[in-house]
Amino acid sequence: MPLNLFFIAAGLIACLLILRRRADASPPGPRGVPLLGSALELPSKFPFRKFNEWSKLYDGWFVFSAIGQKFLVITNYDIAVDILEKMGTQTADRPTVPMAIYMARHIAFTLENYGDRWRRCRRLAHENFNIRALDQYHGIYELGTAKLLRQLSNIDPLKVPEELLQFSGTLTYEAMYGPESGGENVKQNIRKVWEMAETLGDAMSPAKFIINLIPALGMLPERISPWKQYGTRYFNEHDRFLMEMAQPGLTGQSDSGFVASCMRMRDRTEGISDAEIAWTSFALYGAGVETHINGAQDEVRTVAGDSPPTFEHRSKMPYVMAVMKEVLRWRPVLPAALPHTASQDFHYNGYRIEKGTYIFYNQWNMCRDPAVYPDYDVFRPERFLADPPAPDPPVFGFGRRICPGRNFARDLLFLAISNLLWAYHFEKATDADGKTITPSPEDIDGNILLHPKPFQFIMTPRREIPQ
Ligand code: HEM
Repeated sequence: MPLNLFFIAAGLIACLLILRRRADASPPGPRGVPLLGSALELPSKFPFRKFNEWSKLYDGWFVFSAIGQKFLVITNYDIAVDILEKMGTQTADRPTVPMAIYMARHIAFTLENYGDRWRRCRRLAHENFNIRALDQYHGIYELGTAKLLRQLSNIDPLKVPEELLQFSGTLTYEAMYGPESGGENVKQNIRKVWEMAETLGDAMSPAKFIINLIPALGMLPERISPWKQYGTRYFNEHDRFLMEMAQPGLTGQSDSGFVASCMRMRDRTEGISDAEIAWTSFALYGAGVETHINGAQDEVRTVAGDSPPTFEHRSKMPYVMAVMKEVLRWRPVLPAALPHTASQDFHYNGYRIEKGTYIFYNQWNMCRDPAVYPDYDVFRPERFLADPPAPDPPVFGFGRRICPGRNFARDLLFLAISNLLWAYHFEKATDADGKTITPSPEDIDGNILLHPKPFQFIMTPRREIPQ
């Protein structure tokens, strides 16, 4: 064989060998220490910050392990589209967390794997919360917003976040169970749903229940397993509570709201049960209620005039819409989103991702990509009005699991922002020496879900609030 042909053949064989080895290799990422992997480096709070730190060392994605569990973290938008949308059938599962199974018995679809039950419940959510279906809730929102404006007229600004939470809680409650579902128990029921969602969310943490770290403990029978006993108590109590709330819609006493509407589509949704409808309303409610609420004043004043803004004004309020997008981008409420799991091995970019790997996508990084959102730390709504405009921030997830409440949330945010700006003037507070107090953008709280810490500000009515 002539010498140059020999070199070409040898080069080709070497390339093939390298490619084959790479195809079986795991993507690059932090190594950690033997056995524990990177477990000790993971903070118990704000994992998105650690992911952000690591993102600087790797190019758009990386893999690490913690006590034997593999984690893939995606920090680049295009890679998220490839893995979570184009390969969506392989990457739409959720992690199997033992406590979630004992407490929610596979019936809360947010936690459920990509299978028939998820599909059924997701369909109910989609049919009731897609853009066309949302018209049915507009009356509820507008009445609720008018009430909010009245309630804020005499209130300490530090109490405003609580009022906003109550506002979004009540509107979501009425959207689920119908406007007439109000009554005396509403406040109490809303609190109970929050607590229920919070307890379930906390129970998923490995720090809270050791069984989440050592699933083999699940082999113990229930009588000597405190985790299973706790799960059974939680499930029974909350199943009763959810069924009671859904009762009017399930039995035809009420014909408005999500539950009643699910009953009307029952014959088109094969296999759906009363319990699935009741728990799907909780999944939507629990996921939606805290994620809603987080100077377009001239625009609002010009467009709406003397009456409060409604949905009819939306297309004439591009600046308000840009403010809403910038709020969502600047501090995404779910910075590391919710984890998916790989339901089978798959290859991407020449690397292999193993079945069972948890997949996080750090929306925090995507909303702060300097090529897409220059000066990403600056709050600048104008970026969405430029020519060409910045793309909408990727804060609602990807692929088959994309947030089913995203249009509902956008509607409510538009109405709340435009009405608050119409009714009130907002300013920074001042200290005893008259110096302006600027809240630090780092003052955030929460864990998976972010919210600002309470801060002082001044809120003055700009007009007579209609009573
Ligand atoms: C600003 C408001 C909101 C934001 C930023 C947001 C964001 C998200 C994100 C990032 C996910 C994870 C998607 C994934 O797993 O890939 C999600 C899932 C979900 N969201 Fe939202 N959301 C919001 C409001 C709402 C509202 C109002 C509802 C209900 C009416 C809702 C219901 C849900 C549900 C049920 C899921 C789980 C979907 C599934 O597992 O199939 N969200 N949301």
